[in-house]
Amino acid sequence: MPPDSTSVPWPVAEGYQLSVDGRTRTVEGAWVGESLLYVLRERLGLPGAKNACEQGECGSCSVLLDGVVVCACCVLGADAAGAEVTTVEGLTATGSAKDIQEALVAGGGVQCGFCTPGFLAAITDLLARSPEADELEVREALSGNLCRCTGYGRILEAVSAVQAERRGAGVPGGLRAPGDEDGPR
Ligand code: FES
Ligand code: FES
Repeated sequence: MPPDSTSVPWPVAEGYQLSVDGRTRTVEGAWVGESLLYVLRERLGLPGAKNACEQGECGSCSVLLDGVVVCACCVLGADAAGAEVTTVEGLTATGSAKDIQEALVAGGGVQCGFCTPGFLAAITDLLARSPEADELEVREALSGNLCRCTGYGRILEAVSAVQAERRGAGVPGGLRAPGDEDGPR
């Protein structure tokens, strides 16, 4: 978030435009150091990407930048000008992540839900790049997204279910490896 503008004359960026979820949005009067996450949440009214660590460690702020998942807290808003930003609001409004959303809910991969928008962005990115990703690849792709509730097993199972559904082969047993715990309910 921007520093206290009452104490220091921080430079303000000239207005710039972002393409967000297929719409051109104008950002005016912003501090040049504002993150994309701050701009989305506080200036454009898109609170789906969550603010937690602001250090690129938790993945709760994940969005797609030209189709590639990024931590919005680590990208300057102004640097996203010229790229297509896709937020969880965009993914769910277009229905492109509907099956992922449904699989997470149906399989218990959503508990408090704070991490879910970030997982939706990361899983969307993964399955676009690698529809048949194996368990190791899925685990690696989602390793930047932290969840304090589910223990991850049910999220991995949801990915497996989506893969199976997309290839029209029904829902398999899941990706859980021996020894995985589901975590607290
Ligand atoms: S808030 Fe961006 S990675 Fe945690
Ligand atoms: S469901 Fe609560 S942090 Fe993931």
